[in-house]
Formats: sequence, structure tokens, C-alpha cells
Amino acid sequence: MRLAVFSAKAHDRRFLDAAISRAGHQLLYLESHLDRQTACLARGQAAVSLCVTDRADAAVLTLLAEGGTRLVTLRSAGYNHVDLAAARRLGLTVTHVPDYSPHAVAEHTIALLLAVVRRIPHAYTRVREGNYCVEGLLGFNLHGKTVGLIGAGKIGLITGRILRGFGCHVLAYDPHPTDAAREAGFEFAPFNQVLESADIISLHCPLVPTTHHLLNRTTLGWLKRGAVLINTSRGGLIDQNALVEALESGRLSALGMDVYEDEVMATQHDHAAHRHPDDPISRLIALPNVLVTGHQGFFTAEALADIAASTFTAMTDFGAGRACAHTLTSPENSPNTPPPHAPHGSSPAFPLTTNHHQPNETAANPPTRSPTSPAN
Ligand code: NAI
Repeated sequence: MRLAVFSAKAHDRRFLDAAISRAGHQLLYLESHLDRQTACLARGQAAVSLCVTDRADAAVLTLLAEGGTRLVTLRSAGYNHVDLAAARRLGLTVTHVPDYSPHAVAEHTIALLLAVVRRIPHAYTRVREGNYCVEGLLGFNLHGKTVGLIGAGKIGLITGRILRGFGCHVLAYDPHPTDAAREAGFEFAPFNQVLESADIISLHCPLVPTTHHLLNRTTLGWLKRGAVLINTSRGGLIDQNALVEALESGRLSALGMDVYEDEVMATQHDHAAHRHPDDPISRLIALPNVLVTGHQGFFTAEALADIAASTFTAMTDFGAGRACAHTLTSPENSPNTPPPHAPHGSSPAFPLTTNHHQPNETAANPPTRSPTSPAN
């Protein structure tokens, strides 16, 4: 089968070549993102592979279908960049990768946490300049601290287990607490109680309309003074302007963050030439107690190998006329039935519709899983 890989980077080529090309499939690597101008590049390719920055709206999918494409394989768990209803109408099969390495994201969460708590970025810069002074680098022990997890699914569970190993007390809010988390020693509590009690908050719930700006001016105000916040889940969970205020006022003592509100524009690209100092992200990065990475939580060899293997399986099954695993366009995943399970922070709707989280809503009704949440 012929596969056009959009937004192909060197690492995609490395892992996809290893998993796929030896099986006789032909891969066409395209550096361009998929959009209405570039869809024609896939003419004659039975399958396309997309990442989160490719935009497969109805017009783009129509162009792909007209060019002979039948299979759309996503290299992500999230699918809010694909119009699934249009794909169904056009008879396209869309597959995704729901479960690639939750350990990768959990471990990156811990890396950010330790780095900000022990001020590693500052220490690194100082020592490179020959300055070995420890003044200003005072940290605190994780041992004995209370960590509040918002979301205790696959990634939250692994993160909490690692933190239990540090001797932390893990307090979690999740509308669907699991026995596995309880057995790991997590204590579940209402959303506001978790925010009020934790020394460290780590976000691991999906971004859906009801969790948009879950942390806003009001809810950030519930945090303990000097709390540390880590976000490896989705940027839209936090109101970035309120976040800057919380850091500047000392409500938050530090922030580690891997994800941004504008994922397509902000991440995994070199924006050095056109960064504006007033952008919320630039204001955040300029703060001394903030460590930002470019959505690399998933970026381990193991996760990329999983994604490539999953792409290969989808192509092989589709080519052989078998049902593909993790198909988003099968009848049971039609808009009238709940989506399969939590993808990489995506919404089932296209495009993502946001519902600005009202502070009072949060106070009165801790956020619950949306009926349309992909976590369902
Ligand atoms: P999961 O579905 O296993 O767990 C999500 C949990 O959040 C579920 O237990 C669900 O009940 C809970 N939840 C739903 N609504 C909630 C709410 N309002 N408040 C608190 N909890 C709520 O998903 P998984 O695999 O653990 O992924 C979590 C998130 O991690 C994803 O949604 C995605 O945004 C992010 N992610 C980030 C990556 C990165 O590279 N930084 C890579 C992969 C995922």
C-alpha cells in the first residue's frame, strides 16, 4: 500500500521506515502540513499518516478522497484535528493510537517537577558560567508533600505511583476513581479540596468543553500559597493570563508545562524569529520560576515505536480487508454513540468547541466528565 506521511520529521521517518517499509508498503514523506493547498500531494496514495498539526477538515478530506485515499492513520491519540463526520460521509477509515506509552508522559511530568522544585535550569546555567553559588537555588523535599492529581487515568495513575515512591501523599480528583488508584494508595477528594490541600498540582485529565480553563482566576485562587503546578496534559485546561498573574503574585511558586493553548501554532516548531514579548507564552517563559517544554511528553523511542507499529498494523489490516483496530469511523463510533476512550486530550467534536469554565460552576459543581468526553 502507498502511504503519504504528512508533517514528516526525521524521527517519523526513522521509526516508520523501521516498522513499515520492509513489509513492502511504499512511503512518501512530505514535510508539509496537510491543508487545502497540500492535500493534492497525496493524490494516488491509498493511505495518509497525519500528526496533530495536520488539519483534516471536510474540504481537505474531500480532496484526499477524490485523490484516491481511503485510509487516514493518525500518529496521535487525539483526533480533534479530523472531521470524523465528514470522513464517515466520504467512506474514509480513520484510525488513531490511543495508548502509546503513558509512562513517557508520566516520567516527563516527574522530570518537570524535580527540575522546577530543585531549580535545575538555573543551576545548569550558573555552573556553565563557572558560578557554583547555591544562593537562590533553595528547593524542598518531595518526601512528605501532598500531590494533587487532577485526573487519575492511565498517565495520572503512573505519575501518582512514582510520586508514592518519593514518599508523597497522593490526593486525586477524578469523576471516575479506579480501584487500581486506590490500591496504589491514592486518596480521592472533591476538586476544590484537592486544590486547597496540595503542595503540588499535576493535571492529567482530558481537554473537553467542561474542562476548558478548569484552572482560572478563581480556582487558581484556591491553591495553597506557593504551590507548584505541572501541566503535561493540555494547555486549554488553564487560563494563561490567570496563570501569569498567579505566578507573579506568588500564589504559584513554580510552573512546569509541556502543553499550550494554541497547540498548532506554539509547539514542535522553531518560532525564534517571530516570538512577540507580549504573547502569553512569551510572558510565561520570561518568568524565572517557569520551565516550558515543547509538547515532548510523549517523545520517547518506545512511544514512537508504538505509533509506527500501530500505523503498520492499520495499513496491513486495511490492505487485507480486515477491520482495523482503533478505528474512529466505525459505526459504533458514530456521533450518536460515545467515543471509544480518552485520546490525547482531544474532543470528539470538530472543531473543538470551548465552554469557558465559569468560576461558580466549578465551585458549586466540581467538573464532571462531559457526556461527549472522549474519556468516556
Ligand atoms: P485517561 O483517559 O487514561 O485518563 C484521563 C482521566 O481523566 C480519566 O480517569 C477521566 O475519568 C479523568 N477525567 C475526566 N474528566 C475529568 C475532570 N473534569 N477532572 C478530573 N479528571 C477527569 O487519559 P491519559 O492517557 O491518562 O491521558 C491524560 C491526558 O494526558 C490526555 O487527555 C492528554 O491531554 C495528555 N497527554 C499528553 C501528552 C504529552 O505529550 N504531553 C501525550 C499523551 C497524553
